Amino acid sequence: SKRIPIVVANWKLNGGIDLLCASVAAFIGKHFSTKIAICPPYIYMRDMLNFLQHSEIIVGSQNVSKFGSGAYTGETSAQMLKDVGAGLCLIGHSERRQMFNENDGSCQIKVNQALASDLMPVLCIGENAQQREAGITNDVLFRQMHDALADTDITNKEICIAYEPVWAIGTGQAASPEDAQAVHGFIRQELCVIYGVERAEKIHILYGGSVNKSNARELMNQEDIDGLLVGGASLDPNHFIEICKQAE
Ligand code: G3H
Repeated sequence: SKRIPIVVANWKLNGGIDLLCASVAAFIGKHFSTKIAICPPYIYMRDMLNFLQHSEIIVGSQNVSKFGSGAYTGETSAQMLKDVGAGLCLIGHSERRQMFNENDGSCQIKVNQALASDLMPVLCIGENAQQREAGITNDVLFRQMHDALADTDITNKEICIAYEPVWAIGTGQAASPEDAQAVHGFIRQELCVIYGVERAEKIHILYGGSVNKSNARELMNQEDIDGLLVGGASLDPNHFIEICKQAE
């Protein structure tokens, strides 16, 4: 990849003070040539930001509200995340699509909320096993991208796409580097349609789904794989550091 790699940890609903402390201890004072972000549960973001304020680690959220403010109990706005120092937010992770009614429409609203607050949206897309077997992967990704990115203006803003084949998440069965590259190439092509070639060439497309220290480097060697979104393996700080090194 010609883009500076970004490696993102997604803790999902895991971890606690212990993992927070272990991660901070593992990362503080270390320098990496990749960009590294950690997305802990919301409740730990503030502490993590305070502990890591003199480090290069970006702290991100796993979700963001569709709404800016108002009577929306339990929600956290993009501006609030920006205010505390978050650098990015995941949007439309497949687990949120499957279990929390997230869809392309809500993703579009959230992407715009994030962009408006200068918080980098990481739009997560991906086909499930059934769709893959039916040979409609590209159609699924096409719809997810064009719907969620319709009416987005990224002039002077950052945006990122994470390709996570649902069948590869938490299964230990990552996409092969070649298969992943083929899909990333398609995603790049559609980004060119949406944003124009010059802009699309600068957008990071991350791969996620059973990434570990053994497959990270080969995945990162692909032309259009510009970073990794790591779930399970990020819950062990030393394993996650190893992945970050493989991505350098
Ligand atoms: O956001 C992370 C992905 O869902 C990947 O999870 O690395 O546990 O397969 P995993």
